[in-house]
Amino acid sequence: MNRRKKKEERIPMKRIISIALLICVFFINGCSVSVKFDDKDAADQEWWQQTIAYEIYVKSFKDSDGDGTGDLNGITSELDHLKELGVGAVWLTPCYVSPQADNGYDIADYYNIDPAYGTMEDMDRLIAEAKKRDIRIVMDLVFNHTSNENEWFKESRSGRDNEKSDWYIWADPKEDGSEPTNWRSIFGGSAWEYDETRGQYYLHTFLPEQPDLNWENPEVRAAVRDVANFWKDKGVGGFRMDAITYIKKPAEYKDGKPDAADGMTGIHSMTANTPGILDYLHEFKSSVQEGSDIFTVGEANGVEADDLKDWIGENGVFDMVFEFGLVNIDLPDETNWCERRKWDLTDLKSFFAESFCVADTAGGWFPVFLENHDQPRSINHFMPESGDREAKAKALATLLLTMRGTPFIMQGEELGFVNVDWPSIDDYEDISTKNHYEFALGEGYSEEEAMEGVHHFSRDSSRTPMQWDASENAGFTSGTPWLPVYPDYKTFNKKSEKEDADSILNYYIALAGLRSEHRELKDGSYEEIMPEDENIVAFIRQNKDSKATVLINFTDEEVTYDTEYVKDADCIMSSNGETQKGKLAPFEAVIYEGSTK
Ligand code: NOJ
Repeated sequence: MNRRKKKEERIPMKRIISIALLICVFFINGCSVSVKFDDKDAADQEWWQQTIAYEIYVKSFKDSDGDGTGDLNGITSELDHLKELGVGAVWLTPCYVSPQADNGYDIADYYNIDPAYGTMEDMDRLIAEAKKRDIRIVMDLVFNHTSNENEWFKESRSGRDNEKSDWYIWADPKEDGSEPTNWRSIFGGSAWEYDETRGQYYLHTFLPEQPDLNWENPEVRAAVRDVANFWKDKGVGGFRMDAITYIKKPAEYKDGKPDAADGMTGIHSMTANTPGILDYLHEFKSSVQEGSDIFTVGEANGVEADDLKDWIGENGVFDMVFEFGLVNIDLPDETNWCERRKWDLTDLKSFFAESFCVADTAGGWFPVFLENHDQPRSINHFMPESGDREAKAKALATLLLTMRGTPFIMQGEELGFVNVDWPSIDDYEDISTKNHYEFALGEGYSEEEAMEGVHHFSRDSSRTPMQWDASENAGFTSGTPWLPVYPDYKTFNKKSEKEDADSILNYYIALAGLRSEHRELKDGSYEEIMPEDENIVAFIRQNKDSKATVLINFTDEEVTYDTEYVKDADCIMSSNGETQKGKLAPFEAVIYEGSTK
């Protein structure tokens, strides 16, 4: 029998409770969700708090040798583009040796570069060339799992009594020979894979080609620390820690309550943020980070607002975490792309207020991101379908680059990239997209409904090749690109946008310049204004010397606001070119210097 889940609720109860708790906590401390934070002088800030970060999906950025795949030398050749955007930290998706079952998030050798991306000499040159431009390279450390082709796993699976037999999560079958539990992996299907040689199952939170490491084993923890220290010694500026909330498993493996027609329960609900995880991460922090100026940012799916104080800040385990509240605003259940939650702008605003409130209170800091390589393009994700694409992109750019925190730009975001909408599932490359589609059909959704979910959420949308110019393949490669170039490349590409004074790219560059000149946009406090307004996102950034008021219209219509907010203030930026106090054109974003409220 087919089962359809109808989820009408907008914001999950857990989040409502945590917002309510925050309101109480901050009320007691004299502040509410519309919070005004104390500012810190720029002199007190770390380099990574003051800069702009940029994510490169290595496979899709720039191909230097015509094999259709981006590579390290391609990145080195385009560093000036990043410099112009004011970028000081570049996060590279994994470029280590990998069979590429999950585009590099399945690492076979942490100490070498995949030949498709270049050599270790290319990496050394990239680090050095970036440094010349004041840019630090940030490596993606994938330590929840390795590739099944990693030597560690090969040894572990070779029998039950080798030196690494306990480096992965092995479990005996149930009496009937079936999987130890009914857990569904994040990419679909059972999270257990049977291994003939050992006569046991191994756990994989993601694909069967990505077996989970056993962090209970101190040798495993030492091995991953060695990897991190190797890259730190190479001179990188920081680490993004992949899927880090899954490293600790529960003491006992038990079936969960089925959450779909397949009779399984999502592994996320069984293993994310298991108590005890912080001990491992404190150990990692003290043996990798202490005494250096590198930063860490954890991918923290499953860390709720009220947990943040343990994850970031003075007593936390990372400098920043990517929290999923905002990007999951329309996705109540990550397994099911067919059920989207309705949301409005006050929901979006409350995520910022909530997260920043906790982050600042704990002495922590936040990465601001609207996109990454696992997410839809932000124009499709957070903006209405109607209206001008460039205006929407500029509105989002304003939010990204003026919000308190370190902005992370996803490659292509600065050019206004949008989601792909390929007609058939066979056109898609991403394995998780294909699995989500199959899951939807299995749950009884129609082909059309399943494809609608794919069009909205597929990870391929953020992975299409970077568009450098209007030449064939958008100047990404002289060969055949591994993923099709988006057909709008003749208009939306770096070269054409650079030549057009009103382009999205030039708006990003102008905003980056404004951040340097108006330091309050970097180090200033954040105070949300008009929290109840359903059309406008508005806030004040203020430090000892100056104050900026940011107003962004998220609708396709002209909207009005109280001119008191900007009385005696001067407009220093309008995405529209010119503006009138008290009014915002469709999707217009403005920044005023000074504020009377
Ligand atoms: C999160 C990464 O961002 C995603 O791309 C990857 O597939 C999974 N972790 C597994 O490593």
